[in-house]
Amino acid sequence: MNIAVAQSGGPTCAINASLVGVFKEALKTPEIDAVFGSINGIEGMIKDELMDLKLVIRTNEDMELLRQTPSTVLGSCRYKLPAVETDDEVYKKIHENLTKHRIEAFFYIGGNDSMDTCNKISKYMQQVGYECRIMGVPKTIDNDLYGTDHCPGFPSAARYIISTCMELYLDARVYDKPMICVVEIMGRHAGWLAASAAAATYTGFGPDLIYLPETDFDVDEFIADVREVYEDNGKVFIAVSEGIHDKSGKLISEYGSDPTMIDCFGHKQLGGLASTLVSILREHFTDTKIRGIEFSLLQRCASHAASQTDITESYEAGRVAVEYAVHGITDKMIGFRRKTDEDGNYKCEIKLIDLDACANTERKVPREWINSRGNGLRKPYIDYLLPLIQGDPKIPLQNGLPRFANLKKIRAKAPRKIENKPE
Ligand code: F6P
Repeated sequence: MNIAVAQSGGPTCAINASLVGVFKEALKTPEIDAVFGSINGIEGMIKDELMDLKLVIRTNEDMELLRQTPSTVLGSCRYKLPAVETDDEVYKKIHENLTKHRIEAFFYIGGNDSMDTCNKISKYMQQVGYECRIMGVPKTIDNDLYGTDHCPGFPSAARYIISTCMELYLDARVYDKPMICVVEIMGRHAGWLAASAAAATYTGFGPDLIYLPETDFDVDEFIADVREVYEDNGKVFIAVSEGIHDKSGKLISEYGSDPTMIDCFGHKQLGGLASTLVSILREHFTDTKIRGIEFSLLQRCASHAASQTDITESYEAGRVAVEYAVHGITDKMIGFRRKTDEDGNYKCEIKLIDLDACANTERKVPREWINSRGNGLRKPYIDYLLPLIQGDPKIPLQNGLPRFANLKKIRAKAPRKIENKPE
């Protein structure tokens, strides 16, 4: 069989590890012949823009470097497939290209929206009777995929956030003057990532206040919270999830005047919340130094802070997806089930989740893990998080700098036509 793999949605520093998992397992599997990489997610399957991965990833060293390289080697997309009932043109294109390259298994590495794409393709291929095993491989720093204990990419982003918050905490206290510092962390509807800043607080070097989209944000309560900490020691460190909103659902980032871009899934491109909150705070805390810091893309590409547990599990998610597909499994997403060994140490098992169930369903931080005032996290969240961020990957260095995979993106040739030769 030939197989294809694609990467979709926002990148992480572990998404290439999943791709290497798919690729390496495919190399070991005698049933698998060509391994195609679809360029820019599903768009590559629609436009027939594929890489021949056996020509791109040539050596063990390529694989090792790629495993630790952030971003997506195949490129990514934010592409929403239309409902097949209203427009089946792109589905026909995907079908045509799968057939043309004789692709019998397709692996989509992505988050919520990507699982929606994966699910739609899977159902369409079933409907038209094209036998292609379709598997979702989870990935999202938002950690909000349904049915899995956690999502590849999240632990590494969390590890960056925790250590950066600890460093910022120290920096923000150097002057003998009051200081308020607001840090903005990604996560539109689920606050898993912003919540990770609480692990810094548990070390004694983290934010005093943390706000997530799981609870409504009230500006007056916020000011009261800040004042309480301020009056205590004049230094206030605040972490906020980009998706916090008031009780009417309006995003706090929209309280500012920045125009907001909307992607094809209808998601607003967030950002700018830290400066909006800084403006609000300035009205109440005059003569105080106030800084807004947006972690922005840094939090999802910081491979120097990656969690080895995350890199290993991300690789494994890709690897087992191939193993399952070769055994005839289709229409599923790989997930993780948390276990502990006899000594109480963290262990993780693979499980399968129906694509139907994870497409577009978001998993939020449980309310009972957030304190009653909605401005901090309770211990069970820390207990959940800490095992995931363990382990320091050995980043290959050259001249003291990380070595990233630098691969030649060789396009796949159109397959030779099989001719019906006369006997
Ligand atoms: O993929 C998840 C995510 O990183 C969100 O946390 C964030 O809001 C969004 O992607 C940003 O998307 P983009 O890269 O398209 O700006």
